[in-house]
Amino acid sequence: MQQDQFYIDLGLSENQYSKEVIAGQQVYTSSFLRFYDLIVLHIISRWLWRCPPQNMVDLYNKYLSGNHLDIGVGTGYLLQKAKFPVEKPTISVMDLNPNSLIESKRRLAGIAGQLNAYRANILEPIHTKEKFDSIGMSFLFHCVPGAIRKKASTAFQNLLKIRKPEGVIFGATGLHDLGQTHLLSRRGMKNLNKKGVFHNTEDTLPDLEAALKENFKDYELYVIGAIAFFAGKKAK
Ligand SMILES: C[S@@+](CC[C@H](N)C(=O)[O-])C[C@H]1O[C@@H](n2cnc3c(N)ncnc32)[C@H](O)[C@@H]1O
Repeated sequence: MQQDQFYIDLGLSENQYSKEVIAGQQVYTSSFLRFYDLIVLHIISRWLWRCPPQNMVDLYNKYLSGNHLDIGVGTGYLLQKAKFPVEKPTISVMDLNPNSLIESKRRLAGIAGQLNAYRANILEPIHTKEKFDSIGMSFLFHCVPGAIRKKASTAFQNLLKIRKPEGVIFGATGLHDLGQTHLLSRRGMKNLNKKGVFHNTEDTLPDLEAALKENFKDYELYVIGAIAFFAGKKAK
């Protein structure tokens, strides 16, 4: 485990990851993150995926706790906009890309009572000292290689080990089958997959539900546009 002033490094070195894992996070440079909220959340999500970002904020409003971990945090926009149930929450941000950790830490410094940052890969076992009451991951699965049934199950198993027993694991992801009904989303997903920014050609709603069923006794799953929203509660 390496530690520097910005984050605790729980990940491998970059050359130990597959080229697909690298490609799924390398677009998030510090200069792209300056425009991320506008381009990804307000333009692409609203107009291509037919899902305005308020829907993700609503999900966060429903499930955030005062001891929250966010993985694939990006800029931290959703945590900035959502309402925490306590005044000064403990927020932990986690991402494979240090740029996202640096940007989200900068934005959340005024909101958090305590702010931790970890570099880690969602597809590997994650060893934090503390456990969390809520774990969020928005727009992460569609960046990560593999079919949703396998990658979501792997992620849920990794995260269940660092979730408190009564906690919740929730998120949103763009699914390929939901994106095929409109020209703009069809074209958008095709291009993003071609570039390696997206890896969701094998992601379908029934397979996401199968991964939820495999890991949770009690879960929620709904769809807005091309985006699936999920929350896993009691574990199996
Ligand atoms: C599309 S952004 C989502 C940002 C934010 N959650 C949102 O909803 O706006 C995806 C984020 O996931 C991170 N990411 C991509 N692959 C990852 C992986 N294998 N493990 C952890 N984080 C990853 C990227 O670096 C980026 O910050």
